[in-house]
Amino acid sequence: MWPYPRVLAHRGGGTLAPENTFAALRCGMDHGYRAIEFDVMLARDGVPVVIHDQNLKRRLGGVGLVTDYDAAELVQMDVGSWFKPQFAGEPIPDGAEFVRACKAAGVWMNIEIKPARGHDRATGTAVARLAADIFADEIAAGEMARVPLLSSFREDSLDAARAAAPDVPRGLLFERGALPADWEKRARAVGASAIHTHYESLDAALARAIKAAGFGLFCYTVNDPNDARTLLDWGVDAFCTDRIDLIGPSFA
Ligand code: G3P
Ligand code: MG
Repeated sequence: MWPYPRVLAHRGGGTLAPENTFAALRCGMDHGYRAIEFDVMLARDGVPVVIHDQNLKRRLGGVGLVTDYDAAELVQMDVGSWFKPQFAGEPIPDGAEFVRACKAAGVWMNIEIKPARGHDRATGTAVARLAADIFADEIAAGEMARVPLLSSFREDSLDAARAAAPDVPRGLLFERGALPADWEKRARAVGASAIHTHYESLDAALARAIKAAGFGLFCYTVNDPNDARTLLDWGVDAFCTDRIDLIGPSFA
């Protein structure tokens, strides 16, 4: 069973705001969303920050890598200007601060563990500890529907996350393309409760098989309402979207 919201704003606010920022969170909320997906990576000093790419080029020009800087430096960097001048000065969020802001706003989280190259286990450990820390009361009370769902393409990250905070649930992400034949074995090996696929990787039979095996089923990134409807018909539990203007949080 899937105790979480069905539709999530991808990277906070989809394509309507600079990705993975407080402005994106506000944008998602302005569109009625109370559930988001975002990406977390470790800075040079091992502190989690909210960002998608290890290379800062796409958002900041040629200034190097996330892992070239401590978190205190990264949170001063403007990742809003590339998007639109009105977002100038929008910083890279500190991971813990961002998770606390979501929690305070009543926004449920799918936190994607996005390790910089060579940091799979450390990132899984840090993100899982962060979530376990901030949601310690909910975990103790068994209020698991409020606890974030961690996910990652990197099995080592999920394995480390499980070791660090076994009570924080995990989803195994699969790259776009056909799912590997051993998807179930891999998911069980990291103690995943959910399978996260690109929506084009699925058909009705595979969706049925994943559900029959007892996993939650989540798809990224679904931007066409017709596709969204088909996926839900196939039994997909939830999906994230970039088009929060086309697909509302109560889409059914
Ligand atoms: O977690 C779903 C989706 O965000 C995975 O792809 O590259 O957008 O992080 P990406
Ligand atoms: Mg992501």
